[in-house]
Formats: sequence, structure tokens, C-alpha cells
Amino acid sequence: MAASLEVKNLTKSYQRKGQPPFVAVRDLSFEVMPGEIFGLLGPNGAGKSTTINCLTGFYPPTAGEILIEGFDIHQSPKKAKQHLGVCSQEDTLDTDFDVLDQMLRYGTFYRLDRFQIVKRARELLETLGLMEKSNELIENLSGGMRRKLQVARALIANPKVLVLDEPTTGLDPDARRILWQLLTDNRKLGMATLLSTHYMEEAERLCDRIAILFQGAILDLDTPQKLIEKHIGIEIIEEEIRPGVFWKRNPNLEDVFLKLTGKSLSAGEES
Ligand SMILES: Nc1ncnc2c1ncn2[C@@H]1O[C@H](COP(=O)(O)OP(=O)(O)O)[C@@H](O)[C@H]1O
Ligand SMILES: [Mg+2]
Repeated sequence: MAASLEVKNLTKSYQRKGQPPFVAVRDLSFEVMPGEIFGLLGPNGAGKSTTINCLTGFYPPTAGEILIEGFDIHQSPKKAKQHLGVCSQEDTLDTDFDVLDQMLRYGTFYRLDRFQIVKRARELLETLGLMEKSNELIENLSGGMRRKLQVARALIANPKVLVLDEPTTGLDPDARRILWQLLTDNRKLGMATLLSTHYMEEAERLCDRIAILFQGAILDLDTPQKLIEKHIGIEIIEEEIRPGVFWKRNPNLEDVFLKLTGKSLSAGEES
């Protein structure tokens, strides 16, 4: 089976005035297969957004190649982007349009007929609990609603490759659960999903495979279970959570991250 998304030896450095370039991601290679949810797990500053902005065509990479359904995102951007849905970390909603129009306008970038776009927009707004807001302007939405709308918009054309940069940051647990379910349903339909996160629970529950990203490099890449078995083992961990109070738990990806880096996942640069 051919990969839906291929990242080959991606390096990105940022130019800085009067200083040597800063290498934000170094020689990353991975593939995302149809029907796979692939996670980039790392703290703030690890290089998640840099990676994502290169593979969606937003930044030119310093070196390396990115193929979406076999099309190079920088050499054949129009063809590649027909298969790509993107939810970036920043809010890129257009404040001039209401919720439904936002979806419809985005849909016109893809070669779909209006009937299909309207149908799909309504389904997505319904699933994400935004239907009641379909005629609201963006400024009247809460932060969580805006985030959900941005994900819905990325899904308008039912893309073969979906890329989400920290999609659930700022979402309440209920909204997070709905989004996880939507991504799981899309996986069953063969969508290839790449998501970045610094929530180990999200990575562990949702992702088929995870690349642990730290200081711009992949430290390991495997299924969550194998990462845990390889680096920590499967024995129950007993922790003293308060003086004299012991808590037994299974080993998790946070333990893996700590073992590999000496740091906690939440201890990244300030965002
Ligand atoms: N436009 C930029 N210019 C210079 N450095 C940047 C730029 N964007 C990000 N960086 C730096 O690159 C590193 C990776 O950042 P980023 O990719 O945003 O990480 P993450 O998304 O994992 O938090 C950080 O040290 C950040 O400060
Ligand atoms: Mg980021």
C-alpha cells in the first residue's frame, strides 16, 4: 500500500539577523498510511508547528521532500493541496463570514460541486455541535467553537490527508471526545491523519503510531504500546502521590518522554 503522506529528510532552519540560522527541525522522515492516525508528540518548542507548516506548503523546507498522495507539496502545490485538509495552530478563520459561509468558501478551493459542499458542511457542523451557530459571525463564537470550526473546515472536502496542529488545545473534555470520535470514524474511511499534540493521553488513545519529537529531532517512532514496552516495560508503577499514599498505575508515554529526554512533556518553551 502506498503512503498518503511521505516526509523524507525534512530539515527547516530559520534565518536570524546577525546570528547563525536556527535549525528548528532536523532530518525528519516518516510516512502516514491510509487509515492511520499518526501523532507528533512533543512539548512546546519541539518543532511540531515548523514540521506541519513545511508539510502543508506554508513554509519552504531548507532540505527534504514532502509528498501528499505522491505529489510534491512545493513542486506541485495545486495537485497536492487537492488531497489535503489543514487545521493550523493559529486561528485562521475569516472574520468577514458567518460559520456556514466559512465552510462553503473553503470548499470552493476543492473541485467539488456546491451541493456536495453544502451537504458535507451541514454534516460536519451537526457532528461538532455547531449547527445552531451556522449563521453567527466568527466573533460571536467561543474559543472552543472556533477551534472546532477550524477542524470542520479542514474536513470539508473529505481529504485523503488531514493535518491538524494541536487540534484539541483549549477544548473542553466533551468537545475533545467528539473530535476524537470524528477522527476515529474518518480513519475507518481510509483518511490519513497527522496530528501534533503535547497531550500524552491524546497520543496514546488516538494514534496508531507516534513520533516523539524533541529539540527538532525524532527520538523514536512506533506504536504507543511498543514505545512503552521498549523504554519502560509493562510492569505496574507504584508512586507515592502524597506522603504515605501510594497509587498504582500503568506505565505511559509521559514516562517514555521523561526517560528519553530527562524532561516532562509539559516542560517545553513558553508558547
Ligand atoms: N518564524 C520563526 N523564526 C525563528 N524561530 C522560530 C520561528 N518559528 C519557530 N521558531 C523556533 O523553532 C522552534 C520550534 O518551534 P515550533 O515549531 O513552533 O514548536 P512547537 O510547535 O513544537 O511548539 C522553537 O525554538 C521556536 O522558537
Ligand atoms: Mg506549535
